[in-house]
Amino acid sequence: MLYHIVTYGCQMNVHESEKIANVLEELNYQPTENREDADIIVFNTCAIREGAENRAFGNIGALKQQKKRNKNLIIVVCGCMTQQKDVQEKIFKTFPFVDIVIGTHNLYNLKTLISRKITDRKRIKEYQESGELHEELIAKRTSGDNAWVNIMYGCNNFCTYCIVPYVRGREISRKKSDILNEIKDIIATNSYKTITLLGQNVNSYGNDDKTQGTFSELLQDICNLDGDFKLTFMTSHPKDLSDEVIDVMSKNDKILKELHLPVQSGSNKILKAMNRNYTIEHYLDIVKKLRDKMPNIRLTTDIIVGFPGETEEDFNQTCELVKKVRYDGIFAFMYSKRSGTVAEKLPNQIDEDTKHNRVNYLLDLEKEIKAQKEN
Ligand code: 5AD
Ligand code: SF4
Repeated sequence: MLYHIVTYGCQMNVHESEKIANVLEELNYQPTENREDADIIVFNTCAIREGAENRAFGNIGALKQQKKRNKNLIIVVCGCMTQQKDVQEKIFKTFPFVDIVIGTHNLYNLKTLISRKITDRKRIKEYQESGELHEELIAKRTSGDNAWVNIMYGCNNFCTYCIVPYVRGREISRKKSDILNEIKDIIATNSYKTITLLGQNVNSYGNDDKTQGTFSELLQDICNLDGDFKLTFMTSHPKDLSDEVIDVMSKNDKILKELHLPVQSGSNKILKAMNRNYTIEHYLDIVKKLRDKMPNIRLTTDIIVGFPGETEEDFNQTCELVKKVRYDGIFAFMYSKRSGTVAEKLPNQIDEDTKHNRVNYLLDLEKEIKAQKEN
């Protein structure tokens, strides 16, 4: 019996698929690279932009023929897309050959649901409004010499464009002792060079449970563990990146000198409309602190172009910021309207042509900076 997992979206999902793989192997399935050979196919979906959702819809739809050929094939759709109740309903109705549709908060129950499906054959749809920690889900690590470790789940920030807080729920930090034990086990295998800590906003680790301490303390405790490993983390919200974290980063050789620090826009007006809670002046101040202590730090960022109300002048400010910071990498996205978010209802939505032009301009700028850096 063979399984095949299709993963969309961020590193969080990549790691979640490692947990799904473990569940499937506990049920005696073996992995296959070839979807056509699979007895069970799992789509771990992403909802961050419309494009990701459309790709998933297309690829799920394409399975109809395979299901016709193999009536026993089990198809599961889970992840952020199906944590939106209306989308879950739509997938269940549109694709009658899909067997199990669950949201992010029901993943812990996947093993039971697959067993139930095998015994009573009925289609399953499960939705839970909010979630809790599930330490019993362990990963079958498949990301080469990098080991992902969740330190927290969810997001409390409600950036006005973003669907994540709606599909991942409120911030929940794992217990520090559980994180340290997982990392000790990873080190003991001698199979991984880097450990990457994961959270929507790792800098707010412990805010929901002060007894766990802060993110900078967690970083230091991990660095204090014996072993030959490198440590990195994502994602950091500029409003929460503390001086202590910068300090711990600079003082510990185990921490890689790289930071992904999404700025989203170079215009204070747009940052305010995005509910980002920092100014460009504050952001540049952090960049200065980072570079003062770690002159060769590799900085990368996310930028959204075409947020509602973004004028040429706002976009110019983003370009100016990019020229000032001279990033080592930029992920530039065209704003995508997400249902249920505040920005969905904002006036002055930007047309697609303008978004394309702006994203291309940024990518050219990034290339130019890269070429200059390489010389
Ligand atoms: N449209 C476009 N990009 C988005 N991101 C988040 N939500 C949206 C959206 N609605 C981007 C942000 C974030 C990255 C993971 O995805 O830049 O940092
Ligand atoms: Fe989305 Fe903002 Fe949370 Fe990041 S911090 S997941 S962009 S709401």
